[in-house]
Parts: sequence; structure tokens; C-alpha cells
Amino acid sequence: MTELRISQKEFDLFRDFIYKEVGISLSDKKIGLVQSRLSKRLKALGLSSYDDYYYYIQDHKEEEIFHLISAISTNVTSFFREEPQWAYLRENINTIFASTRKIRIWSAACSSGEEPYSIAIFLKENLDHYKEYDIKILATDISKKVLEKAISGRYVAKDIAGLPKHILQRYFDIDKRDPQAPYAIKEDLKAQITFRMFNLVYDDFSIFKNRFDFIFCRNVMIYFDGSSQMKLVSNFHKILSENGLLFIGHSESLTRNNKEFKTVRPSIYERI
Ligand SMILES: C[S@@+](CC[C@H](N)C(=O)[O-])C[C@H]1O[C@@H](n2cnc3c(N)ncnc32)[C@H](O)[C@@H]1O
Repeated sequence: MTELRISQKEFDLFRDFIYKEVGISLSDKKIGLVQSRLSKRLKALGLSSYDDYYYYIQDHKEEEIFHLISAISTNVTSFFREEPQWAYLRENINTIFASTRKIRIWSAACSSGEEPYSIAIFLKENLDHYKEYDIKILATDISKKVLEKAISGRYVAKDIAGLPKHILQRYFDIDKRDPQAPYAIKEDLKAQITFRMFNLVYDDFSIFKNRFDFIFCRNVMIYFDGSSQMKLVSNFHKILSENGLLFIGHSESLTRNNKEFKTVRPSIYERI
């Protein structure tokens, strides 16, 4: 079936709205992507133009914004993504936390939860004297839909593909008769993680009263424009502890003249 064409004027309406509400900056090149993603939603709602959909969103903002976010942003993620960062942490984690027994980590833009669960599993596997530590992980995303999956902690075979057998046995309850989600994160691991909605571009960072040792903000800054990225990195600086680490995606970088962080490894930065 042929897709309904989006006009430049309609695209501009959505582009401005998405920037204002989500912070995602869409270039002209994204017109095809926006058309193909939104046309599915138009069809589901029985609407006959993108204009109509735009006004439908204004009338049903509360519920519809989540569909819009899911349609335009990519939620792709996986367990233990960005292997070089885990390799760095395997070498250094015990030195980093040698003189403290309290660990606070934020997985910002956590998508469906694979990132914060990887962090929790990693710590349990690699931290000496693990039981002595008070560990809390905050995991946030702008999308209610992905957060629901994250909170459920339930995954299908393709989500856990590549995880070693011993990790599956230790950290997942496996019920292969459950076709919806045969792999469920064990409750004690889930208990370490608090999931919340948070918009990295527009929400207020002053809500964070305690400092984080690590912030993972991977594969999301790429969707923001330069000024939003700079503001975000500066906000991270304010809420990271001294020498705290910021992890970003391998295809992202901090601006060269950033004076608030120094490079530890590509895509790993230390707060100055
Ligand atoms: C590609 S995923 C990255 C997930 C994970 N960090 C990783 O690297 O595997 C990007 C996530 O960013 C979220 N996102 C997009 N815009 C956001 C915003 N303004 N504030 C917070 N999260 C946002 C999306 O909902 C999506 O789940």
C-alpha cells in the first residue's frame, strides 16, 4: 500500500513540535523517515492527513506524545553494548571504588532497560566485596513505552542473544513456556534500580540532590542539536561527583574545547 505523502509544511509543523517537546532536532533529510514512521500511526487512528494528526496530538497530548516519541526516536539497545567501556571498567572498577562503599549511577536514556541491568550485573560480577556496597542505579527515559518494558524486566530470546549461559542462569528467571517474555530479570537485581521518566533536554536537573559516580548517557545526544548537547553535558558536570565518569556512545563526542571533562578513553570522560 502506498504511503500518504507528507508536505514540507506538515513536516515543519512536526519538526518544530518535536524540538519544542522532546529536544530532538530533525534535519530536512529526515522527511522520509518522519513520513514512514508517522504514516503507520495515521493509519492506526484512521486519519487522512498529517495535518489532522498534528491537531489530534494537540487535543490528546498527554497520551499521544508517547506514540510520537516512539515513532521518531530509535530505542535500539542491547545488553553490554559498547564493549570497550566494559573492558575499561573490568580493569578499573575496584580501584575506582576502593575508598568508598557507596555507589550511585545514572543510566540516562535507558530505553528498555538493557543498559541499567547490564550495569547491575556488571557490578555484581566484578566488584570485590560486593555485599559491603550500598548501590543505587537510577534509570530514566523520555518514553513511557520503553520504560514499561524496562520496569517489567522481561525479555525475549533475541534481546538476550549473546549473553553467556552463566549470566542467564544467575540473573534471569527462565520460563521457556512463556512465549511473551521467557527471560525475566531476578527481583533482587531489579530492586537496585529506580526507573523514572526524565527529559534530558527540558527537565530540571536541580531535582538531583545527590551526586552520581557514573553517568551513562549513550546513543541519545546524537539526536540533539549543539546547544542542547552543551547544556546537557554542563548539567552532567554539576551532578557528577569529583572525578566521576561520563560514558557516551562511541559515535558521539564532547566538544574539543570542553573544559569540564578530560578524556579517559574514547567515549569515557572524567569530570574535572
Ligand atoms: C538509541 S536509545 C539508547 C539506549 C541506551 N542508552 C543504549 O545506548 O543502548 C535512545 C533513547 O533515548 C531516548 N530519548 C530520546 N530523546 C530523549 C530525551 N529528550 N530525554 C530522554 N530520553 C530521550 C529514547 O526514548 C530512547 O529510548
